[in-house]
Amino acid sequence: MEPALQRRIQRYGWDKAASYYEASWIMQLKPAQDLLLQMADLQEAEKVLDSACGTGLVSFKAREKVTDKGFVWGTDISEKMVEIASATAQNKKISGIKFERMDAEELTMESSFFDVAICALGLMYVPDPLKALKEMLRVLKPGGRAAAAVWGQRGHCGWAEIFEIVDKRVASEVCPMFFNLGNPDMLLLTFRAAGYTRIRDERLSTILQYDTAEQACGAAFAGGPLALAYNKFSAEEKQEVHKEYLLSIERYKRGEGYEVPGEFVIALGIK
Ligand SMILES: C[S@@+](CC[C@H](N)C(=O)[O-])C[C@H]1O[C@@H](n2cnc3c(N)ncnc32)[C@H](O)[C@@H]1O
Repeated sequence: MEPALQRRIQRYGWDKAASYYEASWIMQLKPAQDLLLQMADLQEAEKVLDSACGTGLVSFKAREKVTDKGFVWGTDISEKMVEIASATAQNKKISGIKFERMDAEELTMESSFFDVAICALGLMYVPDPLKALKEMLRVLKPGGRAAAAVWGQRGHCGWAEIFEIVDKRVASEVCPMFFNLGNPDMLLLTFRAAGYTRIRDERLSTILQYDTAEQACGAAFAGGPLALAYNKFSAEEKQEVHKEYLLSIERYKRGEGYEVPGEFVIALGIK
């Protein structure tokens, strides 16, 4: 797919998902975000980049860790995500943090500026993740740390059929390379290719818990990367995709809800 088209699908898709995002994903992504922060090992007074920051779930936790003496700069391709993150900072009167719309592949910051660069569950959506990791490397000071989390192997993510269910109804694939970085060693090798040293990674199994079928469908369609395509579906098509998706996760049904397995990979590298 044309990178420019992929970028537009992501940008406007996440604009549509932004207001549903936290309700859908805050608990489900927490294990990966927590491990990423643990591996990044943020210290007081550090300057942190959070690339593809979304509503700032990780940025605000990073801000706590670097204290008033530090600084966090969150960037995301979606205007709406950036607006929500900025409004949270303003409403909660949190200083030492700012958010800006920016493409992960083209950071506008000067080189050697940050102590740490993180990217939580963002690289799967970027047309060229290697370029995004190189940009994170560029803006890091020598010795600086980069940490990124992605979804793991397709076969370990029970909800993976969602992409085919939507893709067959739209003209172009929504997330063509979604599971690529989750393949064995792929994230690690991409860190190496970007120029990082002392790289290590960890794989984390998780369970996505949904109390109801409605909750499972809401997270899958309204609050995530498929939101742009989903919003264009007729009421009838929406019913159809819900039915197909629920059938694809049927084996994980527990009572009224679902417990869908998932996997994350988190890598750390040094400049
Ligand atoms: C699953 S959300 C993760 C948000 C946040 N990091 C978190 O952990 O909650 C993915 C985010 O990647 C952003 N994104 C997608 N493509 C991007 C790109 N090329 N540059 C910057 N951000 C991008 C989306 O707008 C979305 O906010």
